[in-house]
Amino acid sequence: MAEIKGYARGWFVVAYATEIAVGVVKRLQYFGQELVAWRGEDGAVRILDAFCPHLGAHLGVGGCVDGDHIVCPFHAWQFDGEGDCVEIPYAAKIPKQAKLRSWTHMERNGLVFVWFDSEGGAPDYDIPLLEGYGTPKWSAWEPNLLRIDTHPREIIENIADKAHFPTVHGTEVEVFENEFTDHIAIQRTSGVAYPRGGGTDRFSLTATYYGPAYMITEMAGVLPSKMLVAHTPIDETSLHLRFGVILPRVADDDKMARFIEAYADNLLIGFREDIQLWENKVYRVRPRLVAEDGPLGRMRVWYSQFYTPRAEA
Ligand code: FES
Ligand SMILES: [Fe+2]
Repeated sequence: MAEIKGYARGWFVVAYATEIAVGVVKRLQYFGQELVAWRGEDGAVRILDAFCPHLGAHLGVGGCVDGDHIVCPFHAWQFDGEGDCVEIPYAAKIPKQAKLRSWTHMERNGLVFVWFDSEGGAPDYDIPLLEGYGTPKWSAWEPNLLRIDTHPREIIENIADKAHFPTVHGTEVEVFENEFTDHIAIQRTSGVAYPRGGGTDRFSLTATYYGPAYMITEMAGVLPSKMLVAHTPIDETSLHLRFGVILPRVADDDKMARFIEAYADNLLIGFREDIQLWENKVYRVRPRLVAEDGPLGRMRVWYSQFYTPRAEA
């Protein structure tokens, strides 16, 4: 099993698509690096390393969009989505080395993803389309974001940690299964939840990680819903967690908005219960487990693939 060092290889959510409207420049701080994202007039997002090759200004702080290019706030050099300098307003010739690294990225399911690979390789798996997202039939993500001082492996372990549900979330788990195949990890759970507002909820869900950092949960029940949980490392000790829920649209917009808000609040309560543990625990490389714990060992082997150099995978 590879050592969990540095950052995992995979697709990571760096923004909600709605945060980067046409003409918007957004500073991104992930993987211990500074990046800049913007959306050109053609509607496409671009992502580059943030520091200008000229004198080092941060393109994401004061930079602006001109057409499909980004303009540096310091001396107005312009860059395209490939990272090439395409204009220097006061110079006849553009130096060849005036280039920035362009990040492989995509927009999908209302989210902007970047591909991270410390070895510089191309994506080796895909993020599937979330059926119905972006159509009038389904609601859209609210841009929920939490900053948490922990390592991604703690978030991931939840998927196999059967025994924490009653203790941390007050949930009775009746069925709990995990499946790990290639880059996909699945948890199938059903049981009874006791929402903070009172009452009982029978639930049945399938939570699927596509790669190391993006999870979609499909909830069966009276109102079928889809939940997002995606984390992206800011550096080796902190991360952003994006979460949300979408529902089939009902005629009454206000009612739905209230429902989604209540749902998100409930999710947030659940996360806060986990977060307190995550932010204050240590990572046990060799935990003392019992038979009734979930398959944490298998989960860790699955997760370590994203840290394994490709030549050894
Ligand atoms: S530092 Fe960017 S144009 Fe000069
Ligand atoms: Fe949890």
